[in-house]
Amino acid sequence: MTQKFIAGNWKMNGSTAANDLLLSGLLAGIGQPACQVAVCVPSIYVAQCHGLIAGTSISLGVQDVSQHESGAYTGEISAAMLKDCGVRFAIVGHSERRQYHGETDTVVATKAQRALGCGITPIVCVGETLAEREAGQTEAVVKRQLAAVIHANGHCISELVVAYEPVWAIGTGRSATAEQAQQVHAVLRTQLRAASSKADGIQILYGGSMNAANAKDLLAQQDIDGGLIGGAALKVQDFLTIIAAAQ
Ligand code: PGA
Repeated sequence: MTQKFIAGNWKMNGSTAANDLLLSGLLAGIGQPACQVAVCVPSIYVAQCHGLIAGTSISLGVQDVSQHESGAYTGEISAAMLKDCGVRFAIVGHSERRQYHGETDTVVATKAQRALGCGITPIVCVGETLAEREAGQTEAVVKRQLAAVIHANGHCISELVVAYEPVWAIGTGRSATAEQAQQVHAVLRTQLRAASSKADGIQILYGGSMNAANAKDLLAQQDIDGGLIGGAALKVQDFLTIIAAAQ
């Protein structure tokens, strides 16, 4: 069985004081987790958070990476820079990036490629909107999003993490049911199997209102290998409860 992975997505939240409080609280309560744990922090706080968690059981991640390698791209942060600063994971293709920053499937695939090229594990997000689900397009949408990443990354896809995040479940308090999530995870697993002989080792996380109360049920599903946690990752006790549910 693949080791479970719980990753926090802090989004645009935090401050030096709040980060300090959150990470010291997590470190005080985490013990020896049986699963992998990471926090994806705002890039401006990478150095601070690296200093607080280096050498602990919590790994450092960010929420985006540039599709470009280097050069005249004002405001962008490259995969090489992130690697240089101790980052291990980068979320790519989060629905908020797709929605507010116009990131296409191709851009997301290139970002995954840049991350992999620098030894950073991309956490590739896919997921349908409510309208797409209601139109019966869930499977087609997530397969199209993942296909672009598979196409651009070939055999390297065994190195990535996938996150299924139904857009209608993100930040809404309305999680997918364990059955709904498992159904889509199974589709993604089949697609990965067709592309890689190592597909069973690729972690597929669920994200979208996963919390201390529903984590156990979701994480018990056959193809749910962990969680990408937004709101609940900002609360020490809730995040610790989710980590405990993944053991
Ligand atoms: P949420 O966010 O847990 O607050 O729904 C998850 C995410 O967007 O990664």
